[in-house]
Amino acid sequence: MDSRRCIVIVWLLSVLRIGSNDNSSKQPAWCPRNCKCNGIKLSVFCEDSHFTQIPPDLPTFVRSLRLSKNNLQKISNNTFIEFQNLTSLSLIKNNISLIEKDAFKGLNNLQRLWVGENPLNIKVLEESVFGAVPRL
Ligand SMILES: *[C@@H]1O[C@H](CO)[C@@H](O)[C@H](O)[C@H]1NC(C)=O
Ligand SMILES: *[C@@H]1O[C@H](CO)[C@@H](O)[C@H](O)[C@H]1NC(C)=O
Ligand SMILES: *[C@@H]1O[C@H](CO)[C@@H](O)[C@H](O)[C@H]1NC(C)=O
Ligand SMILES: *[C@@H]1O[C@H](CO)[C@@H](O)[C@H](O)[C@H]1NC(C)=O
Repeated sequence: MDSRRCIVIVWLLSVLRIGSNDNSSKQPAWCPRNCKCNGIKLSVFCEDSHFTQIPPDLPTFVRSLRLSKNNLQKISNNTFIEFQNLTSLSLIKNNISLIEKDAFKGLNNLQRLWVGENPLNIKVLEESVFGAVPRL
């Protein structure tokens, strides 16, 4: 093959590659349904989406999760047990009235937790949060 033809082929391949790679505005494939995600920060935004529980298809590597303005009512023991890399969690404006004592167990790296604007008993909250989250 002469070198000029070779260069043309390489150029064509790179053009095709760029064309099929143009997914910059798309969500990462691992993003849960009805959520938006940032594939670099590994953050997940599932706000205002009628969730009644943690998204079942949430990947365990996420670092930040916003579930504000949904319809969660209860956080059960060990809900986040696999999410060891979560540093930031927002549950603002749900309808959470019960957080079980071991609800946040396993969140060893959690640094920020927002639970405001829920019908919560402060004592229940204190027990679950300060018992289980070492870095908060
Ligand atoms: C682009 O998005 C489509 C559909 O979401 C997916 O099938 C494809 O693998 C993506 N391509 C790249 C290069 O990420
Ligand atoms: C948490 O992050 C570390 C370092 O980036 C990584 O090795 C590990 O697999 C992650 N854990 C999960 C559950 O994804
Ligand atoms: C909030 O939760 C309670 C049960 O704890 C339920 O009776 C009520 O209907 C819920 N409110 C909304 C707006 O879903
Ligand atoms: C949740 O965990 C606490 C502490 O281990 C335990 O006392 C409680 O019975 C558990 N609740 C349920 C519903 O399993």
